[in-house]
Amino acid sequence: MTDMEREEQAGGHVAVILGTRPEAIKLFPVIAALREEAGLRVTVIATGQHREMLDQVLAMADIVPDHDLAVMQPGQTLDALTARLVTGIGSVLDSEKPDRVVVQGDTATAMCGALAAYYRQIPVAHVEAGLRSYNIYHPWPEEVNRKMVGAIADMHFAPTETAAQALRNEAVDPASIYVTGNSVIDALHLTHARVAAEPDLVQAIQPVLDRHAGKRIILITTHRRENFGAGLDHILDAVTELAQLPDVACILPMHLNPNVRPFVEERLASIESVSLVEPLDYPSFTWLLWHSYLVLTDSGGLQEEAPAFGKPVLVMRETTERPEGIDAGTARLVGTDRAKILAETHALLKDEAAYLAVARASNPFGDGAAAGRIRTVITASLAGKSVAN
Ligand code: UD1
Ligand code: UDP
Repeated sequence: MTDMEREEQAGGHVAVILGTRPEAIKLFPVIAALREEAGLRVTVIATGQHREMLDQVLAMADIVPDHDLAVMQPGQTLDALTARLVTGIGSVLDSEKPDRVVVQGDTATAMCGALAAYYRQIPVAHVEAGLRSYNIYHPWPEEVNRKMVGAIADMHFAPTETAAQALRNEAVDPASIYVTGNSVIDALHLTHARVAAEPDLVQAIQPVLDRHAGKRIILITTHRRENFGAGLDHILDAVTELAQLPDVACILPMHLNPNVRPFVEERLASIESVSLVEPLDYPSFTWLLWHSYLVLTDSGGLQEEAPAFGKPVLVMRETTERPEGIDAGTARLVGTDRAKILAETHALLKDEAAYLAVARASNPFGDGAAAGRIRTVITASLAGKSVAN
């Protein structure tokens, strides 16, 4: 063993597991914070549940995974994906033998990462713990994935007090719950500052914004499994109508899921005031968000990011595990009903006072310092100490 290896072992060994775009976005600040810790060995295990969309974030954040399981297959099913993830992650954990595993959120990667660690009795820290919709089919399968991770984790990083309380209500040991803010706000602020210093980073979106100069931009994203089929169809009906408004342009960065992208292209590609764009690198996406007037989305992360830039969000879901946005007035639930989406969008476009009330509501999801808090708790625990919560 080299001196360096000995020093690293003295500080402990953390394995951070990630596989999809949002996990990489929400974990890159955490990985950077952990890597600042002298003597701590940090291993990044990418499952490759996403490919292009994951690689975009890893490249931007300068993260080269120590392991890449490359599990993605076109149109993957949940059961086959789960099997590949548990066995793949398990064998990496057998070789790396970390002291602690970190997973984020509610994806198949997070759930399988926690499960594979549990099978080896490796403790698990859960970033973005405690979000609950209390409906196991909305979001599906994320609601149950998140509860499974919560059942395994011994360290719960809740982004808000609401999420922390949800865990306490489920009899999770209060001493293991830390309210940190959501690390997506760290990612957003870090990236926005980078874009200000390096404008070339947003080349993928600037020409699209230039094309629609003078119009109010509606940013649209959609990818949720529970919206496939009829829900997506109604969303696309609504966008088709919104695109007829003279002073509005719609920009929709497409998700690569084959249950989404072909349908979006078929319905919207020929509409002049709609720009369909490839999945955007994170700097370009944050720039687009900054220049948008409002957001229509079924995404989780965007419900948290948009209020940090003062952008109203209409959430195209039946329910949300992020009620803080609804309570704070930064977001409204509109479901996938065409008429409801149109009515709420028109209200925000026409009534400036109503728009400003939403835009000025304060962001309940964090202050951009979550990653440092998470690092403090993890490193203290590796040193056998505890941190008051
Ligand atoms: C996954 C997560 C979801 C998360 C979303 C973020 C699960 C079960 N779902 O959903 O919680 O909100 O990521 O985007 O964990 N594809 C590509 N290239 C990519 C990414 C996806 O081609 O870079 C295509 C592939 O055909 C793949 C399909 O999209 O099979 C679906 O990917 P998958 O990760 O299973 O589901 P998502 O809908 O992306
Ligand atoms: N995002 C991105 N490029 C895009 C669309 C989204 O970088 O073209 C970012 C967005 O800022 C947010 C995250 O991806 O942080 C959301 O990912 P997604 O909607 O795929 O997943 P969810 O948040 O619903 O799990």
